[in-house]
Amino acid sequence: MRNVPQETPPFQPSEGLTPDGTARVEEILARHQGDPGALIPVLQDINDTFRYLPRAALETVASRMEIPPAEVLRVASFYNAFSLEPVGRHIVEVCLGTACFVRGSGLLLERLESNIGVKTGGTDPQGRFTLRTVRCIGCCALAPAVRIDGITFGKVPLDRTADLLGRFE
Ligand code: FES
Repeated sequence: MRNVPQETPPFQPSEGLTPDGTARVEEILARHQGDPGALIPVLQDINDTFRYLPRAALETVASRMEIPPAEVLRVASFYNAFSLEPVGRHIVEVCLGTACFVRGSGLLLERLESNIGVKTGGTDPQGRFTLRTVRCIGCCALAPAVRIDGITFGKVPLDRTADLLGRFE
């Protein structure tokens, strides 16, 4: 579950970005220069660019925006729009809200774990799918619901999960 403070690992110095990655971060910082409230937009742009928030990029943001690294990490770990780890090309989210759960989303999650070959929170070695859980995505009438790349699929039958994943390369 996200949108609650996450336990974060200690802030360790990390491997640097590639020259191209550094240039991208610099370009994003330059675009938001002078806006003291720009931390979240900056993190959004970095997340969009890299598909996650590389630790080295967070260090650069902290240094350049003169924000304590722990605060940058706290914000980065709070929002479910951000990922601190590399993610797959497609994000699969299984709703474990009450309506979905009573209609079998727990079993759906197990089936998707089996289909993808990862536990919840993981990304398959091919980098195709990242599997997550969410709480009520607002379409309880369609329970059990699964969201892939922001597209909601409702009343997903247990035996159709592989077909569903097959639509996404
Ligand atoms: S509980 Fe799943 S959409 Fe509401």
